[in-house]
This record gives sequence, C-alpha cells and structure tokens, in this order.
Amino acid sequence: MNAIRIDGKAIAEDLRARVARDVASLKAEWSVIPGLAVVLVGKNPASSVYVKTKARQAQALGFKSQQFLLPGDVGEAELLEVIEELNADESIDGILVQLPLPGHIDLWRVLEAIDPAKDVDGFHPYNVGRLAAGRPALAPCTPLGVVHLIRTVVSNLSGLDVVVIGRSNIIGKPLALLLGDAGCTVTGAQLQTRNLPDFCRKADIVVAAAGCAGLVRGDWLKPGAIVIDVGINRTIDSRGTAKLVGDVDFAEASKRASYITPVPGGVGPMTVAYLLANTVNAAVSRRRLSLVVNPEARHIWPSCDREQDGAVDLQRAT
Ligand code: GUN
Repeated sequence: MNAIRIDGKAIAEDLRARVARDVASLKAEWSVIPGLAVVLVGKNPASSVYVKTKARQAQALGFKSQQFLLPGDVGEAELLEVIEELNADESIDGILVQLPLPGHIDLWRVLEAIDPAKDVDGFHPYNVGRLAAGRPALAPCTPLGVVHLIRTVVSNLSGLDVVVIGRSNIIGKPLALLLGDAGCTVTGAQLQTRNLPDFCRKADIVVAAAGCAGLVRGDWLKPGAIVIDVGINRTIDSRGTAKLVGDVDFAEASKRASYITPVPGGVGPMTVAYLLANTVNAAVSRRRLSLVVNPEARHIWPSCDREQDGAVDLQRAT
C-alpha cells in the first residue's frame, strides 16, 4: 500500500479562506474587527518564527494583529501587567502567550491570568474543564487541527479505535477528549506504555505526539491505518544538514497506512489556522453575536455543535 498524503498546507489554506470570510462578515454586519495579541518572552528562535507567522497570518486575514516581544529576563509581574492590559482592551479578542516560558516565570500563574473568554489557546483551566465536561469552550488549536485533518479522509469517526501517543496538556489530553466526543475509542498512550507497538497495531488511527523522532515504525501499523504525525523534531541528517522530522518513520509508515500527514506540511499549518478560527469564535462569543457561516464550515466549530450555552448564540446556517 502507498499511503495518500494528507495535505495540511492546502487544508489550512481552505480553512483560512473560510475564516477570512467570517472576518469580512463580522466587519460588514457588526463593524467588528477581531483582534489577536501574541506575546513572546525571550528570543527562542523556533518560538520567534511561530509568533511572526501567527501575527502575519492574522494581519493577512484582516484581523487587528499585535505582537508583544518581551526580553527573556522580564519579570513575572511585568508580564502579568501586559496580560491585564490586554484583558481590559476591548479591541483584543484573543491573547496567546507563546510557550515555553523562561523558568523564572510561573506558567500557571500566567495562563490563569488570561481572560478565559480571550483564551484562544484553550489552555486556561476554565476552558480545559468546560471541554472535559462537554460544554462550549475554546479548545486548543493543534487538537482541533488534528480532528479536522482526520475528518477530511473519514467523515464518521464513530466506533473507530484511536491511539494517541503523548499526554501533554497542549495536544494529547485535549485531543483524546475531542476524539472521544466524536465517538472514538481512545487509548491515551505515552512513551512509557508497555507494548506500545501492539496498541498501535490494533488502531484504525494513530496520532503521534510524543516529541520523539521516528518513534512509530511501519510494522507498528495495521494495514490501512490513518497516521497523523504531530511531532516536530529538529535533527541533523547523515550529510550534516538540519532537518525537521516527525514522530513517525514516514517512509516505512507510508507503505502500510492508507493516509498519512507529512512533516512539515501536515498538522503544523492547521494549528495557526485554528488560532485564527478561535479568535473569530472568541470575538463572536464575547459580543453575544449571531454569525451565520457557510454550512460546510460547521465542523470547524466543534464547540458550537454542542449544547448552546445560555446567552451565547453562535447561530449557524443549516
Ligand atoms: N508552543 C508550542 N505550541 C504552542 C501553542 O499551540 N500555543 C502556545 N501558546 N505556545 C505553543
């Protein structure tokens, strides 16, 4: 079998086009320009690239886009002050503090300082709890992107067996919740899982998010499995060239899987696209607006397909 590549770049472009249409509707119907503020502490080269990409794409789609580049030795109090100002700023709908933060800053104090209504990363315990309880919530961007990619190749996830390797707060845990809500039987695995290859061999879908280059081998996969590679590992190849590789041995896995995401160009672009989608979602929810979007876009708003939450009325065309 030669797996078909799931083209995350093209799918993200399509999602961004839908988000751009929503941004235009918000402006035309409600004179609202959604605002995204991205905060970076220090000069981690990878984080700097991510933050620039997020801010640039937001601007390109018509958002108000602000970047706050703080020195690596900024005090926690000063960072919290920036967040407080952004919480109070009516023109800002989404606040993202790029992780990781330097060790002298308390991660949870920062995440909990962000107004949950502007928490477009979905990392605040308020949103984490609501997601777990099946209530409308801002959900983390990478898991939303993973579910979206899976849905492009299999529309009904009900009853499928999924192994998610990795149990991080950013990816593995929320992804297990979203897939469970979609009807999957989810095994939350990790590097320490005994007989990890055997768990994978029984799965219809394997999602690798362990941060371990080439972990998932071809013979770990059931023939025809769907493979989603969330890993982004920087390695040096045999010629001394720096290379980005995923958590899956792509060449081997391609011979067994039915569909597979590449690295780069798979999950990565979806994360940024969902950040923008979440920012529109936050702009709409915060103002209690009613926004009608293309019915085909329903699945990009998983939280809106759940039970509606009191006054928040995200009316969707059917
Ligand atoms: N660092 C790596 N991924 C992410 C993400 O999705 N959000 C934030 N804020 N930081 C990250």
